Amino acid sequence: MPDSRVPRRRRFLLCEPRHFAVQYAINPWMRPGEPVDVIRALDQWQALVGTYRAHGHTVETLAPVPGLPDMVFAANAALVVEGRVFGSLFHAPERRPESLPYQAWFKQAGFEVQPPESVCEGEGDLVPAGRWILAGTGFRTTREAHREVQEFFGIPVIGLTLVDPYFYHLDTALFALDEENIAYYPGAFSPGSREVLARLYPDAVTATREDALAFGLNSVSDGRHVFISPAATALAGRLAHRGYVPVPVDLSEFHKAGGGIKCCTQEIRENRS
Ligand code: ARG
Repeated sequence: MPDSRVPRRRRFLLCEPRHFAVQYAINPWMRPGEPVDVIRALDQWQALVGTYRAHGHTVETLAPVPGLPDMVFAANAALVVEGRVFGSLFHAPERRPESLPYQAWFKQAGFEVQPPESVCEGEGDLVPAGRWILAGTGFRTTREAHREVQEFFGIPVIGLTLVDPYFYHLDTALFALDEENIAYYPGAFSPGSREVLARLYPDAVTATREDALAFGLNSVSDGRHVFISPAATALAGRLAHRGYVPVPVDLSEFHKAGGGIKCCTQEIRENRS
């Protein structure tokens, strides 16, 4: 089994953290007084880009805008499936202006962007997982947005309720390993949502709260390699045991804003898989 995992080439969109900072607090990780080391953030981000490219993935970038310190978290800007782009409408007024430059990037890249009517934070809360889209709500993306997403893509949307403010986005508590399976931290979900996940994914890889707090679930998988926080050691062990190859990438400077690897990565899915 260990050698049967097949990687699929991905196309990613990232945004350089040149203006990264913690200037406001919109999740429990953010402490506006605490200094951020921008040089370190840039180094860590470059290492992520280099690691993706070394594994055969395409990385494109868009220019960061001064005054938008969270713009580095590209995942939140949209959800792209089968070449269709559903844009973002941020919960926090501080982040609302981010949607426009991303929309402009998609337009110049040849995509049309559908703007949401209700609060929707892109891949932060929307995780395509094989035949359906898993969708988080509770802190940011609304139930109304889930309905819009299902209508726009014509793909079943499975709503999941997040209950722990440290895991305010679905992508801090769950990621897709491949078309068939996921990894997640059950404690981040309401009892009913936990039951839904257990029914849909009886073979899921579950993570401890410690792994989740180390941003271990804010990972990106290409079906074989899992780009993961090096601090999530127990989870990396479980993934290796299932035949995945953990590739540690340290984005600790971004944890100060409540973000990690997946938050920095927007995936552009062009074909039906
Ligand atoms: N400071 C940002 C916020 O709270 C972090 C976003 C992290 N992104 C993510 N996909 N979880 O909105």
